[in-house]
Amino acid sequence: MAELLDLDAEVLHEYFAEVISQVQAAAGAPPRPRILDLGSGSGTGSIALARSFPQAEVTAVDLSDDMLRHLRHRAAEAGVGDRIRPVQADLDAGWPALDTVDLAWASASMHHLADPDRVLADLFATIRPGGLLAVLELGTFPRFLPPDLAGFEERLHALGDADRHARMPHIGSDWAPMLSKAGFAVEAERQFAIDLTAPLPAATGRYARASLGRLRTALGDQLDAADRATLDALLTDDGPQSVLHRPDLNVRTARTLWLARRP
Ligand SMILES: C[S@@+](CC[C@H](N)C(=O)[O-])C[C@H]1O[C@@H](n2cnc3c(N)ncnc32)[C@H](O)[C@@H]1O
Repeated sequence: MAELLDLDAEVLHEYFAEVISQVQAAAGAPPRPRILDLGSGSGTGSIALARSFPQAEVTAVDLSDDMLRHLRHRAAEAGVGDRIRPVQADLDAGWPALDTVDLAWASASMHHLADPDRVLADLFATIRPGGLLAVLELGTFPRFLPPDLAGFEERLHALGDADRHARMPHIGSDWAPMLSKAGFAVEAERQFAIDLTAPLPAATGRYARASLGRLRTALGDQLDAADRATLDALLTDDGPQSVLHRPDLNVRTARTLWLARRP
């Protein structure tokens, strides 16, 4: 998962830079901002925010010790390790002890939570009046394959979406009403339609493999024999079908950013 998150950030770096600059513009320039990254994963958001706000102290909260270990390593490599504090916490079990913050960021993490309304209420109480919350969520999972494999890829995603919705009922939600219900004033909602076309850098093949590989693990026997064989050929290290080597990969995905302020 950490590899997939890192590759997502690497391949989609232009879109991500746009998101960060929009958040930066909306957050203004508090003198020594305190920032919270909720469900920080491998650290993409924490590191980008620490770089964009050079005086900031960032608290990165995640359930997974492995993710936080990875984040610590990446943050040190990026030269911002001294300004990012990892905190292990299960947000479904309760809210950790946190200082008031100027800016909170939750990227692809809200949909994991069992009771996002409760977490949004805790977030509201943790953000200072006038402070900002940025919620970033996936609209669609990335598609990579050329037109002759589009039908196959859609079949995979139909099964993958059903599996994810069963495990994470809040995935794909419209977060604006939930933010308003928690007391936030929603200031902006922006949809990003990402469409990167071949030829793309080699990281795209690794990203496609990590992404399709997760579907292979999740779906296993739900795939029929022909689709399983097609997928396995795409996931091989070598061979003409391997996503690591084929020159015809694209990246199509959609993301939504909500900016909400505590009045
Ligand atoms: C899809 S990842 C997103 C990571 C990162 N924000 C990003 O955009 O790259 C979701 C993260 O939420 C974390 N997470 C899921 N459930 C959680 C919970 N109950 N409490 C804290 N973190 C949780 C996972 O461990 C994972 O790192």
